[in-house]
Amino acid sequence: MAKALQVLRSIGLQTKDFFRLSFNLQRSSYGYRKLHMSSWIQSEHGSRIPSAHIDGKNKWLNLKWDGEQSKNYPYVWLRDNCRCRECYHEIASQKLFQFNDLDIDVEANDIHFTDDGTAVIHFSDGHKGKYPLSFLEGEKFPAFSDPLRQLNKELWGSELQGAIPTFQFSDVMTDDDVLLGWLTVLHTKGIAILQNAGTIPTEVKKIGDRVAYLRATYYGETFQVMSKNDPNSITYTDTAIDFHTDICAMYNQPGMQMLHCIKQSTEGGENQLVDTYKVVEDLKKEEPEVHSILSSTLFEFTDIGTDILNDFHFRSSKPAISYGFEGNINQVSIHFSRHHSMNVPPEQVYPVYSALKVLSRYLYHEENIVRHRLSPGEILCMDNRRLAHARTKYYIDPTIKGVQRQLAGGYMDWDELSSFYRVLLEKKKKNENSN
Ligand code: OGA
Ligand code: ZN
Ligand code: ZN
Repeated sequence: MAKALQVLRSIGLQTKDFFRLSFNLQRSSYGYRKLHMSSWIQSEHGSRIPSAHIDGKNKWLNLKWDGEQSKNYPYVWLRDNCRCRECYHEIASQKLFQFNDLDIDVEANDIHFTDDGTAVIHFSDGHKGKYPLSFLEGEKFPAFSDPLRQLNKELWGSELQGAIPTFQFSDVMTDDDVLLGWLTVLHTKGIAILQNAGTIPTEVKKIGDRVAYLRATYYGETFQVMSKNDPNSITYTDTAIDFHTDICAMYNQPGMQMLHCIKQSTEGGENQLVDTYKVVEDLKKEEPEVHSILSSTLFEFTDIGTDILNDFHFRSSKPAISYGFEGNINQVSIHFSRHHSMNVPPEQVYPVYSALKVLSRYLYHEENIVRHRLSPGEILCMDNRRLAHARTKYYIDPTIKGVQRQLAGGYMDWDELSSFYRVLLEKKKKNENSN
């Protein structure tokens, strides 16, 4: 390429002119234009130049980069996403014009590429649209460009016993690659353990601050799971806790839960963990009626009490298995001790209880359970919209004074976790490209 440019310069032509010259504009009988350009051309700035084809019939621009599938960019989308300074604030990543001023019937009349790797499009409204080629190439239009979509959920059962993905707390706090690894595992498996976090009860806040911030709830920004005199939840007793996801009484259940072991009891207090996404898949296949009941019955979850912030009375009506717009599971809401109300007529109550019974049987199926007894300094991190967790009863020695088991809890939401995953991934790619 450098040679080709040298030759051009020697005959007094700019790269820009060369690009213009290499177009071969054709107009076919039904009025669409074809712009052909040699696809091996590379701009001075290293952007690969695609072959371009303005398709007036379909009202889109077709670009094809060498060795890749061609992509179609509808005129209206291009005009709406112009990256020139007049139309777009680069730092704010926002458009500068009003939607009312967008002519959705706008046409693209002409395209050329400049040697700094910009596509310039002449529109029928008189505007000259400008687009860095890297922007057009990166836009997986019409497919979605979110890198998180490439992270598949990896369903698991008891084979994860003794093999829960583990990271060092200090590495997650200081090394971006390790943090990215932790976020990746949380997305794919929904579970991870951080080790050697010490026993200061505020360490979960440090993780929140490292990523974004913690998700506060009415139990506080962080909360101490330990036996209390006047518990507003069985959390604060020594009893066994049945399988559940935390805070089902909120429509927007906290996304990720961290439980940092400050002190472990001498006996009991083990956690049981189940990947409900796997259970849902099994139910779909083996017990479709149960799956249908659990994903359509509205359970009324409530949580009423007082904590450090104020009195509270939370309520949500939702199915045990909620699906999102794309057919993916949005969240699983299980709390047998709070499933006391269901919005169904009396004749449907028994079938709903039978469905819950089947769900419970699946949750306690040995093939599905992973057990882990936290040691001081470990932080259990789990997707609270996916994992069901339980705790066995623990024993309090009446002859010993003071707290005998303590876990420091904190939540984060998926929007923040996903956001930082994208940030770190972009940073990593930039670093790799500059090396
Ligand atoms: C809870 C809980 C776990 C534990 O209180 O919601 O899951 O091990 N506790 O105490
Ligand atoms: Zn513009
Ligand atoms: Zn819990």
